[in-house]
Amino acid sequence: MEGEPKARVGSLRARGVPRYRDSVICGDARSVLQRLPRESVHLAITSPPYNVGIAYSGYADDLTTEEYLAWLKGVWLELKRVLVVGGRFCLNVAPTSIKNFHPLHHDLSRDLRDLGFLMRTEVIWYKQTMGRRTAWGSWKSPANPHIIPSWEYVLVFSKGAWKLPGASSAIDITGPEFQKFSDGFWHIPPERNRKGHPAPFPEELILRLVKFYSYRGNTVLDMFGGTGTVAAVARSLGRHFIHIDASPAYCEQALERVRATSPPAGSERIPVPHRLTRPTPSGD
Ligand SMILES: C[S@@+](CC[C@H](N)C(=O)[O-])C[C@H]1O[C@@H](n2cnc3c(N)ncnc32)[C@H](O)[C@@H]1O
Repeated sequence: MEGEPKARVGSLRARGVPRYRDSVICGDARSVLQRLPRESVHLAITSPPYNVGIAYSGYADDLTTEEYLAWLKGVWLELKRVLVVGGRFCLNVAPTSIKNFHPLHHDLSRDLRDLGFLMRTEVIWYKQTMGRRTAWGSWKSPANPHIIPSWEYVLVFSKGAWKLPGASSAIDITGPEFQKFSDGFWHIPPERNRKGHPAPFPEELILRLVKFYSYRGNTVLDMFGGTGTVAAVARSLGRHFIHIDASPAYCEQALERVRATSPPAGSERIPVPHRLTRPTPSGD
C-alpha cells in the first residue's frame, strides 16, 4: 500500500477481538479488501470516487468509463467475498453531468447483478439543491431543456439471501423510524460541513441505512471512506466499523473523528478505534 502511514496508533482492544475491526486502514480499496477475512462484514455503505475529475487528496478521478467500471467491478468482487450471506451493500451514486448524461447507476446495478448480488431497491436521496441552479438549457422552450439532478441514488443489494439473521435484542430502529425510512424517498440536505473533503456523506443518510439494514454489534464497512462518516455513525450506533481510504490525509481525519465518537451506553466489546497498516487474512 503506497503512501500508507507507518505507525499504528492505539491498540487498546479486548483479547480475541479481530484486529481489522474498528480500524482505519489507509490503502487501496481492492488490495485491502483482498486481505480481509471472508464473510466478516454485515453491511457495506460507500460512495466511490465519481470519476469526474474531482480533486481528492492523492487520487486521479478521470478514468474512461470502461476503465472506471472495470476497476469498480474488481472492488465489488472482493466486497462479495467479505460480506456475510445476507449481508447488504448500499452504493451511493450521483447522476452524471447534464450535457453528457450517462446512466452510470444503470451500469453499476448491471455489473453488481452480473456478479450475483441481489438488488433489493433503490433509495432516492433528494438533496433539494435547486436554489443554486443555473443551467436551464433552452430556457422556456422544449428545444433542449435540462433537468437538473437534485437527487442521488442509493442502490441497495444483498449477498446470497434476502434475510440477515440477528437477535431481536440487537434491533435499535423505532417504529416511527421504520415507517419513515421504508418510504424510499429521503429528503436530506447535503452535508454543509465538508471538513476539507469534496463529497462527504450527511450523517442522517448513513444513520438511516445503518439502522434499517443492520443490527447492533454488526460490522459496517466503507472502502472509500473519506472523512469517516460511515465509521463514525456506525460506531455511534453500537456497530463495529472498517474504514478504508487511499488518502493518508483523509485517514488521519477519519481516525480523529471516530476517536471522538462514543458508542451508545451499554454497548459491549466496541474497542477504541486504531489505525492499521497491514490486515492479515486471518484478521488477527
Ligand atoms: C466520494 S469520496 C467518499 C466520501 C465519504 N463518503 C465521506 O463521507 O467523507 C471517495 C473517496 O475515495 C477515496 N479513494 C479514491 N481512490 C481510492 C482507492 N483506490 N482506494 C480507496 N479509496 C480511494 C478518495 O480519497 C475519497 O475520499
